[in-house]
Amino acid sequence: PFTPTPEDRFTFGLWTVGWQGRDPFGDATREPLDPADTVRRLAGLGAYGVTFHDDDLIPFGAPEAEREARVKAFRAALDATGLKVPMATTNLFTHPVFKDGAFTANDRDVRRFALRKTLRNIDLAVELGASVYVAWGGREGAESGAAKDVRVALDRMKEAFDVLTGYVVEQGYDLRFAVEPKPNEPRGDILLPTVGHALAFIERLERPDLVGVNPEVGHEQMAGLNFPHSVAQALWAGKLFHIDLNGQSGPRYDQDLRFGAGDLRQAFWLVDLLERGGYAGPRHFDFKPPRTEDPEGVWDSAAGCMRTYLILRERAAAFRADPEVREALRASRLDELEVPTLAPGESVADLRAADDGFDVEAAARRGMAFERLDQLAMDHLLGAR
Ligand code: GCO
Ligand code: MN
Ligand code: MN
Ligand code: MN
Repeated sequence: PFTPTPEDRFTFGLWTVGWQGRDPFGDATREPLDPADTVRRLAGLGAYGVTFHDDDLIPFGAPEAEREARVKAFRAALDATGLKVPMATTNLFTHPVFKDGAFTANDRDVRRFALRKTLRNIDLAVELGASVYVAWGGREGAESGAAKDVRVALDRMKEAFDVLTGYVVEQGYDLRFAVEPKPNEPRGDILLPTVGHALAFIERLERPDLVGVNPEVGHEQMAGLNFPHSVAQALWAGKLFHIDLNGQSGPRYDQDLRFGAGDLRQAFWLVDLLERGGYAGPRHFDFKPPRTEDPEGVWDSAAGCMRTYLILRERAAAFRADPEVREALRASRLDELEVPTLAPGESVADLRAADDGFDVEAAARRGMAFERLDQLAMDHLLGAR
């Protein structure tokens, strides 16, 4: 019953299962994966699609003939398996030239190069059918105070998005951008550190309608935030263009664990929200199979992401369908929250004049019954109901 199919819309980045396990303290523990093999393997597991950074597919600086051959092999695997490419992104962080960032590097020639690199991969993304282009500001940030004038850097960041959205409109591409927030790592502090920062930034762009967010579970949690709350606000703003699912155990280094590892309760509420909240996009896993795993362990980890999502989807649906839960939701007055605070046509003067017999002391004594409600959720999550 928890076997994924393409209708579930699960997608994986080439760089996720393809992560070789290199970290700041140790060398690679796994061989590189061939993108076409990855496509076939993911299709075999029941995934819907695959995503990529330009450099995952075409090594940085590869000559034109090699570029063409690699894209051709990737496309052949997509055609053979029916796997889709709903999203693509740019690697603006691995090459040393990006050590001070890309769109907000102090060096103007680096910023121009970063834009050219991105524009080129946008063309390829659209050719391969992508409708979302992710922008993670990997090295847009600083380690020290005077190194970056943040207000000016945000001017340059805005300039980059204005250029990119202008290009997409001019080309008639059906492509929207999704900013991926992260508070730190690899920079000491990264610009647009949380979903809230990104949402505020987007409203100041020339074409805000073309730009949304790509929240990642672990990144909000690194900042100590409640991920489902961040996603709910993105949905509320009409800005959840994409999502990166993974696992994280609280504020520490970016763990990129398998989905559902780390904070399982937040994972449960997240799935509940996505399934009820009108998010129709891909369920994209951006995780790193730990470097302890051999190639089989990598595919177990990928399969586990999807299986856990499906289990949580079933558990969340059972929670919502349970008559006792419905009763508990009413007891906690969730239905009352939906009623606007002022009556239709009621003025502030009406409100102030109204004496609706409100008994402050009685209201203060009234319990909210949230504990019973939450234990019902816990029972469902643990399979005890
Ligand atoms: C991270 C980030 C990255 C980006 C990806 C897209 O874990 O730090 O999620 O993995 O999502 O590189 O550019
Ligand atoms: Mn991450
Ligand atoms: Mn990510
Ligand atoms: Mn990641």
